[in-house]
Amino acid sequence: MTRVIVLPGDGIGPEVADEAVTCLALLSEARGLGLAFETHDFGGIAIDRHGEPLPPATLTAARAADAILLGAVGGPRWDGAKVRPEQGLLGLRSALGLFANLRPARVIAGLEHLSPLKPEIATGADVLVVRELIGGLYFGEKTLEADRATDLCSYTRPEIERIAHVAFRAARARRGKLTSVDKANVLATSKLWRRVVEEVATSYPDVALDHLYVDAAAMAIVTHPTRFDVILTENLFGDILSDELSVIGGSIGLLGSSSAGASGPALFEPIHGSAPDIAGQDIANPGGMIASAAMMLDALGHADAAAELTAALDRTLLEGVRTRDLGGSAGCKAFGARVRDHLSATVEPLAKAVA
Ligand code: NAD
Ligand code: IPM
Ligand code: MN
Repeated sequence: MTRVIVLPGDGIGPEVADEAVTCLALLSEARGLGLAFETHDFGGIAIDRHGEPLPPATLTAARAADAILLGAVGGPRWDGAKVRPEQGLLGLRSALGLFANLRPARVIAGLEHLSPLKPEIATGADVLVVRELIGGLYFGEKTLEADRATDLCSYTRPEIERIAHVAFRAARARRGKLTSVDKANVLATSKLWRRVVEEVATSYPDVALDHLYVDAAAMAIVTHPTRFDVILTENLFGDILSDELSVIGGSIGLLGSSSAGASGPALFEPIHGSAPDIAGQDIANPGGMIASAAMMLDALGHADAAAELTAALDRTLLEGVRTRDLGGSAGCKAFGARVRDHLSATVEPLAKAVA
């Protein structure tokens, strides 16, 4: 049995998580994957029910899991609160040591017209952002007074080395190109970042490394996205650049991600937030959550099932079943159901043949 902890969270989180879990349950049944799901409170809903965004029972379950699926957390309801739902997310990432956040973005062949970029710029874009997830400004010492506030940005050599290795290995498995993004013309942490990345590069002579300043990278992502294969960057830059990159495929609602540590369970979540503006209306795009579920299957060693789920998702988009963010009129549930139609069409004959 493979234990999957589901943290639906807030806003559209439960809506998209439902669709992904139902897809996974179908695949697990048809393919005998033995996935067992267990749902826990996390984020704003956990503040409401337990007074904290990451209750001990949720953390204990997450630690003991084989994988964690997360919808999204946060919302205006908790914006003024003493603890915010987002603190639970940062706490979970940090407690599980999830330093390596992978965010793949691509323009699906045949769907170039969904990109806000001209087709000649968008066509063929396929980029993996490798974002350091538990260091930098997010986790440095903070002060907040009436007239002055500070956030410490700190990175150590081992923190940079371990994420650089992840990025080089990813580039090696893809098209062999790595762009490290920093602000080494200004920031001390970026100067160390660049030095360490150069050193790690000597172990990967087969990977072509270049460096870009983050401002120039932000520009190149929309003017020349096909120049990128893997982007390696620190926590805050990775947060911002991955949202920018996500829309070149048409919508932030399509991007999934994985967050892994050196050992223990990994976490899989879409890169978008709880989208309070569209929550509860059955119009959210569950694509990014389903893509995250496919990444989870892959990480659990079910590469075939992962490919089937990705193919079913792509087929749904390609046949024109799309949610409102992509200019369509399909609801979140209807989109998920269509993905499952495609899954059933693929896996049921196979399951019968095996039986
Ligand atoms: P957001 O990603 O929730 O929304 C930004 C815009 O994208 C909105 O217009 C929204 O409607 C749209 N959008 C996002 N996901 C979509 C989807 N699946 N389908 C269709 N449209 C989608 O970002 P925000 O509005 O800045 O943040 C809202 C809350 O979510 C905040 O509390 C924030 O802290 C939180 N947040 C959480 C996570 C997470 O849990 N991993 C990530 C980002 C933001
Ligand atoms: C993300 C989110 C989070 C981040 C927030 C909600 C803490 O924006 O996962 O991209 O900044 O890492
Ligand atoms: Mn973000």
